[in-house]
Amino acid sequence: MNEEQLPNGYPHHLVMSFESQQGEEILIRPILPADAARLQELHSRLSPESIYRRFFAHRPILSDNEARKLATLDYRLSLALVAARQVEPDQLVGVARFAPSPERSQSVEMAIVVNDAYQGHGIGRRLFQELARAASELGQHWMLVETQSDNKPMIDLAERAGYTTNTVYQTTMYQIWLDLTSPRPVSL
Ligand SMILES: CC(C)(COP(=O)(O)OP(=O)(O)OC[C@H]1O[C@@H](n2cnc3c(N)ncnc32)[C@H](O)[C@@H]1OP(=O)(O)O)[C@@H](O)C(=O)NCCC(=O)NCCS
Repeated sequence: MNEEQLPNGYPHHLVMSFESQQGEEILIRPILPADAARLQELHSRLSPESIYRRFFAHRPILSDNEARKLATLDYRLSLALVAARQVEPDQLVGVARFAPSPERSQSVEMAIVVNDAYQGHGIGRRLFQELARAASELGQHWMLVETQSDNKPMIDLAERAGYTTNTVYQTTMYQIWLDLTSPRPVSL
């Protein structure tokens, strides 16, 4: 990452790396405007099911305009963290983001997706935890996870992220509210 190209306010302290369950070094960093094309490339590798679970819609292609918007954030009210394998840093394997939620004050709504080929490697859990921590550090009280009620991996991530949760059950959707001010021990 070329430091000279970092936008104002880039939260450099959120750059980190960790080892996946498969023993691969994974880099996590806040998104950059230059990631727009990488988001499109990641999107092109997702299964239709993962796209549907992420966007609640069939969306075979991420347009230039959508990708640009998703990659250009203020890092305070809206933030995204991207993950890539250290051996291939230009190919994103996951992205997690939040943006303000209109439903409660001091709340954000999050979304996450991991390339199908790398799901189950522990990348989603780490992205989720770092995103929640960043939201909390930015003074947010609540983080909303909106998910289909049969999305077990997502529900598991949210319920075992280490925060008290409050779930609103709807017919096919769950709204899981994480209280970022109320950390609790995780039972793995
Ligand atoms: C939800 C998602 C982000 C999880 O990412 P991931 O990298 O696969 O997650 P992890 O490997 O960190 O696994 C997290 C937990 O999910 C559960 N899990 C993972 N894959 C699973 C599967 N296929 N079936 C059931 N549970 C599963 C496990 O309990 C796992 O816990 P563990 O850490 O104890 O093993 C990923 O499945 C995804 O991108 N799904 C499509 C998009 C989506 O559903 N987004 C959510 C709505 S915005």
